[in-house]
Amino acid sequence: MTGANHFHVALMPGEGIGVEVTAAATAVLEAVEARFGLGFRCETIQGGALYYRETGAILPPDGVSRAAAADAILFGAMGWPDIRLPDGTEIAPQLDLRVALDLYAGVRPIRAIPGVPPVLADPRWAKIDLVIVRESTEGMFASRGVGIVTDDREARDTQVITRRTTERLTDFSCRLARRRKQERGTAGRVTLVDKANVFRSFAFMRKVFHEAAAAHPDIEARHHYVDAMALDLVRRPWDFDVLPTENLFGDILSDLGAGLIGGMGFAPSADLGDQHGLFQPSHGSAPDIAGQGIANPAAMILSVAMMLDWLGERQGSQDARLAARAVERSVDGAFGSGSVRSYDIGGRDGTVAIGRAVADAVRSGAADKSDRMP
Ligand code: NAI
Ligand code: MG
Repeated sequence: MTGANHFHVALMPGEGIGVEVTAAATAVLEAVEARFGLGFRCETIQGGALYYRETGAILPPDGVSRAAAADAILFGAMGWPDIRLPDGTEIAPQLDLRVALDLYAGVRPIRAIPGVPPVLADPRWAKIDLVIVRESTEGMFASRGVGIVTDDREARDTQVITRRTTERLTDFSCRLARRRKQERGTAGRVTLVDKANVFRSFAFMRKVFHEAAAAHPDIEARHHYVDAMALDLVRRPWDFDVLPTENLFGDILSDLGAGLIGGMGFAPSADLGDQHGLFQPSHGSAPDIAGQGIANPAAMILSVAMMLDWLGERQGSQDARLAARAVERSVDGAFGSGSVRSYDIGGRDGTVAIGRAVADAVRSGAADKSDRMP
């Protein structure tokens, strides 16, 4: 660790709009430095599909160790549909990093942001505030790279669920629900999303979940089938709080969740383990809009807020935690006041303009006054 208010951040911009939204995030970090007296030493680490095409390697040889040595990793997006490995799959170092750094908890907040046109007609839409916790080191993705195709006739991928990871996922989810209840007045409810009616692995996961959740008697532990959850996330998303789930289910449901709040441009994420944290928007490199300056950086900037919050918790920096809230409120304020409107919701403000508007709001202190300590 670098010290209470000084942080070493590994920046992995990647490619496509990953690079564009990372630049907007850097502008916000500079405003945080000016306003909150924090210091960031940013070290850029290249990598991704275009890097692979040029060099034959996905990341530099010391890429993972340099990322691991930083206090936090801020990741743009990597991967490009036309650039593939010999087995036909894509370059996805974000998946490798999750395994290498044991980032088992993929935290994906789904929160309605003021000013975004409502996606559902029900006025309770504005109250959506849930978090999907996507287990990110096993599940169906344990088969990545080791699936088998036999004689061009049959293919198999096998799911892995372990007691240890399910217990950690459950503990993490219960602690998150408790903290949200204290800070945001949410329900203190954790709902495992599974398919325990059909698969042994999920029946096992549900059993271990309830065993582990029993250690958190102040948190209500429930379970829900994944297909029913796909329905209920559209029908009544405001009823849910923290939703731990298997890796592939979390992958799919978090895109559904992003759709509920206006698209990928509003969906931040944090990949957390007990030692490391990687923060990135939920979206990819978006080749369809890359290079045009029209990507919405809100997801990335909200990921910066998650990074500041996590650093503040870990390193005991109240300033970093205050900065986290200021960044989140500045995003809400910029969109909520109508001063910016991104292209993905029909507006005309590009990546740079939105990054600047949020950075200016952070710098002016407009959003953090009510949080300053006396
Ligand atoms: P994507 O998330 O890049 O794009 C999906 C759709 O959402 C596109 O129409 C795109 O224009 C839109 N979109 C995404 N982010 C946006 C933003 N910030 N503002 C406005 N619109 C936005 O997913 P896609 O197209 O499936 O994947 C593109 C590449 O990214 C692939 O190579 C994929 O493997 C990679 N990928 C990488 C991820 C990562 O680095 N964590 C995550 C998801 C995909
Ligand atoms: Mg995905």
